[in-house]
Amino acid sequence: MTMLSSQNTFKTPTVIQSDSLKLLKTSLEQLKSSYTQCVIISTPTVFQLFGNTIKKQIENIPSSEILIQPGEEAKTLSTATLCWEQMAERRVDRHSLLIALGGGVITDLTGFVAGCYMRGIDYISIPTTLMAMVDASIGGKTAVNFPNHKNLIGLFNFPKFILIDPKCLHSLSQREFSAGLAEVIKYGVIDRPNLFELLEHNAEAILEKKPVLLDEIIKQCCEIKNDIVQKDAFDKSVRATFNYGHTFGHAIETLTSYQQYTHGETVAIGMSCAAYVSHELNKIDFTFIERQDNLCRKLGLPTKLPSMPIEQIIEKMHSDKKNRGDQITLILPEKIGKVIVAPNFSPNVIHRALLNKQKHDSITN
Ligand SMILES: NC(=O)c1ccc[n+]([C@@H]2O[C@H](COP(=O)([O-])OP(=O)(O)OC[C@H]3O[C@@H](n4cnc5c(N)ncnc54)[C@H](O)[C@@H]3O)[C@@H](O)[C@H]2O)c1
Repeated sequence: MTMLSSQNTFKTPTVIQSDSLKLLKTSLEQLKSSYTQCVIISTPTVFQLFGNTIKKQIENIPSSEILIQPGEEAKTLSTATLCWEQMAERRVDRHSLLIALGGGVITDLTGFVAGCYMRGIDYISIPTTLMAMVDASIGGKTAVNFPNHKNLIGLFNFPKFILIDPKCLHSLSQREFSAGLAEVIKYGVIDRPNLFELLEHNAEAILEKKPVLLDEIIKQCCEIKNDIVQKDAFDKSVRATFNYGHTFGHAIETLTSYQQYTHGETVAIGMSCAAYVSHELNKIDFTFIERQDNLCRKLGLPTKLPSMPIEQIIEKMHSDKKNRGDQITLILPEKIGKVIVAPNFSPNVIHRALLNKQKHDSITN
């Protein structure tokens, strides 16, 4: 069992353990808040899988659920409004608790819904995808998408605690599991060469979801994310490094209307794009690109650009949240384990790098 203590406001207490869902009752008791009611926000599939276990844990508190359609398309203001409508109807008050049970869409949405309702009510996160376990549920960033803009409307809102049960991943599809691995690769590149090597050496066993490896990966990622969030909770400096691959990724995700790729798949493509930019600037040699792309492919992730005009991608990158004014900010790798934040970026360099990538994409399988 890993319990990250909560001396710092930005370090959410987190349990990483098999069957940790069964610790919900005791974890709630430790909060010493007597909640008037709990509302679980989830998707139908996830609720069917884990809802009963959760309900049993909170049987002494009146509870109900709001089930929303799965997928990124549901992460909108209208879904948030639907939640608020139902919460108001059910007389959810300031002393109620929301429980996010699901992937990153659910943890992002629930945190946002909780943060705005009555100027903020408590919520906890029970992430059930690898993406949400290693990234989305940690660090207090919550948001919904806006037409053509990923995560545009949101707020920082930290859950009271997070319960992670790696066993939940057994029912997750291989594609969604790989999507989470994209963020794990990201952590390796930005901060931890050993983690990157662990992925390289154990790719097959990881894809088979071997418990020891899953525990290790989740633990390391939570550590990395918590460490950086404590240094820069509100994303003013070092936290930006978590966006490695995301400036390109978000642009591709929005341009393909969330239909063609999972979030993690666009992060994998985005990391490859960022590496080509670093190469264009002579910061890394080509072996870095090959090593990173190979690992992504081995773990079931795409690396090739979709067929769309490069200009469109660059145009979309102008609306990224890291930008200042019209200048693009990029996170660029210098070696495995080190990235830099590069503000005021020239679109010409990006254009040249992506042209080069397109050329290589067309000759690799
Ligand atoms: N806030 C942050 O810091 C942060 C970080 C990374 C990603 N995100 C966000 O996370 C979202 C992506 O999250 P995701 O990849 O978890 O996708 P997701 O939430 O859409 O979940 C993927 C699918 O898996 C299903 N599912 C979830 N758990 C399951 C399980 N255990 N078994 C079977 N099916 C299950 C869901 O119902 C859904 O259909 C994006 O919106 C992204 O922006 C946020």
